Amino acid sequence: MDLYEALQSRRSVRKYKPDPVPEDKLQNLMNAARIAPSWSNRQCWKFIVVRDRERKKQLAESMPEKNPARKAVAETAPVVIVLCADPKASGKQDGKDYYLLDAGLAMQQLMLAAHAEGFGTCWIAWFDEAKAKEACSVPKDQRIVGLTPLGVPEKQPSEKPRKDLSEIVYAEQWGKPL
Ligand SMILES: Cc1cc2nc3c(=O)[nH]c(=O)nc-3n(C[C@H](O)[C@H](O)[C@H](O)COP(=O)(O)O)c2cc1C
Repeated sequence: MDLYEALQSRRSVRKYKPDPVPEDKLQNLMNAARIAPSWSNRQCWKFIVVRDRERKKQLAESMPEKNPARKAVAETAPVVIVLCADPKASGKQDGKDYYLLDAGLAMQQLMLAAHAEGFGTCWIAWFDEAKAKEACSVPKDQRIVGLTPLGVPEKQPSEKPRKDLSEIVYAEQWGKPL
């Protein structure tokens, strides 16, 4: 799949088929995350691959019932990936914590690679971190930045609208149309 096609057709997937994710494919996806850019190449991330049904349920319990991705984590996705990061291992500039960006970039690379391989994912950030940490024995000094279910999509979700380019791109100075 061409990169632009992957960018255009990726969706947040919240319903999955029971089909497993083969080990070699999973390795490819983890490698896509591994080669992401990061602050001073510090690679502050860790990924926990969860397949155990009970642990997935525990992770789902860290999510509010209203979170639309909860059922995917609890029941349908064969794999859940927990994205962790060490804030001390990344940089901070003008009050901006770059571990969030580092981790987010790695996760997005994984998600795009997953989509190119025919798998679905969904960013999840609406969860109780303490509960999610407990589920996977994540140390206190590490953060869980996000989770994603991973598996074969039940169907391709519809496209969500995006702002027009004219609303978000300026020329030379703030507010000047391109
Ligand atoms: C940082 C972040 C956190 C998100 N958290 C959740 C979440 O907790 N639950 C959920 O169902 N979707 C979550 N999403 C998915 C967004 O709702 C989704 O990306 C957006 O609606 C656009 O849809 P699309 O990804 O299909 O293009 C999150 C996305 C991002 C980037």
